[in-house]
Amino acid sequence: FPGAEEWVPRTGGIAKLAEALPSCRGCDLYQEAEQAVPGAGPARSRILMVGEQPGDVEDREGLPFVGPAGRLLDKALAEAGIDRQEIFLTNAVKHFRFEFRGKRRIHKTPAVGHIVACNPWLTRELAVVKPALVVVLGAVAARALLGTSFKVTEQRGRPVELPDGTAAIATVHPSSVVRSREYRRDFALLVDDLRAAAALLA
Ligand code: URA
Ligand code: SF4
Repeated sequence: FPGAEEWVPRTGGIAKLAEALPSCRGCDLYQEAEQAVPGAGPARSRILMVGEQPGDVEDREGLPFVGPAGRLLDKALAEAGIDRQEIFLTNAVKHFRFEFRGKRRIHKTPAVGHIVACNPWLTRELAVVKPALVVVLGAVAARALLGTSFKVTEQRGRPVELPDGTAAIATVHPSSVVRSREYRRDFALLVDDLRAAAALLA
């Protein structure tokens, strides 16, 4: 894939990014998805949270974390004392990757090539928002921000740094909790990690 670089505005803020995003042809994912989903939230957020990619609902509505994973994230944020209205939410990959099973669109994990291709959008969001803390949700976001050797299951909930020195903390992706057979335990662990994140800023 050519990568998103040539479509990413080098100047301007969050609105300009969102405006430019639909034109991106940095990889093949724009072809099947309904729309690209830009990051959303106050441009001055102290916390920037990075998920994987839009899901089925996000793809139809054009907003991040408005489907089942988003509802779970809302609950976990509330328990951790983090106000969703005050954080900037985005994804490592901006288009929904899926395959049809019958009429249903089933999520497909983005390939490394998609994560790399889409990275210039995330890099620019980070440069515009300049968060004090980045919360990394799941393995795809970790691959995008923390490299190949980072293991979310082993390193979750602990302060780490992005290569540029920005403070970060990783945890599991909320959709893994939605699907978990140990829901109560895994939800509590997610809340613990989000509390640890909030404590870093306190
Ligand atoms: N899962 C994600 O990673 N991001 C969304 O926006 C929704 C679900
Ligand atoms: Fe561009 Fe990212 Fe969409 Fe690929 S997934 S077309 S790189 S916005």
